Amino acid sequence: MSANRPVIAIYPGSFDPITLGHEDIARRTLQIADRLIIAVAHTATQSKTSLFAVDERVELIQEVFQGDDRVEVLAFKGLLVDFCRERGVRFVIRGLRAVSDFEYELQMAQMNRELWDALETVFLAPELDYSFLSSSLVREVAGLGGDVTRFVSPSVWTRLQAKLAR
Ligand code: PNS
Repeated sequence: MSANRPVIAIYPGSFDPITLGHEDIARRTLQIADRLIIAVAHTATQSKTSLFAVDERVELIQEVFQGDDRVEVLAFKGLLVDFCRERGVRFVIRGLRAVSDFEYELQMAQMNRELWDALETVFLAPELDYSFLSSSLVREVAGLGGDVTRFVSPSVWTRLQAKLAR
C-alpha cells in the first residue's frame, strides 16, 4: 500500500449468494489493498442455475458491506479483463479453498493473463471453517430446508428465506 498510489483490487465472482467464505476473503483482501471492488459477473465460466438475479446479488453484497467505504460493489458484463482494464485495476482476488479449486482457478488466471498481461491474480485462503463452503451448497441446502444460518450473513439469510418461500 502506498500513500501516493492506492492499491485497488477486484474480487470477481457469481456470489449467488455471497457467503461468509466470500466475506472472509474480502476482509482479508482489505488487509493488503486500500480499496476493493466486488464484481458480480453476468457471465460465469462454469454455467450454473442462478437463484438471485445479478442486481439482487449486488444489493445483498452492498448490505453486507454497508458503512465500509473501501468497498464498492458492481455488476459487470463481458470479460473480466476488460472490466479491470477499463478501471486500471491490475489485481484480481480469488479464494482458494482446496486443491480441487486449483485447476479451474489456475486456468482462469493464466487465460486472463494471456488476455492482458498486466493482470495479476492473487489467491487467498479462507478461514479453515469456510473451506467446504460454496454458494451452490448454500442454495441446495437452503432449498431443501436445511439450516444455513452459520454460512451466510443474517441479511442474506432473510432474503434467501423470502426467495425460497416463493
Ligand atoms: O464465483 P465463480 O462463478 O467461480 O466466478 C467465476 C468468474 C465470474 C470470476 C468468471 O467466470 C469470470 O471471470 N467471468 C467473466 C467472463 C470472463 O472473463 N470469462 C473468461 C474467464 S478466463
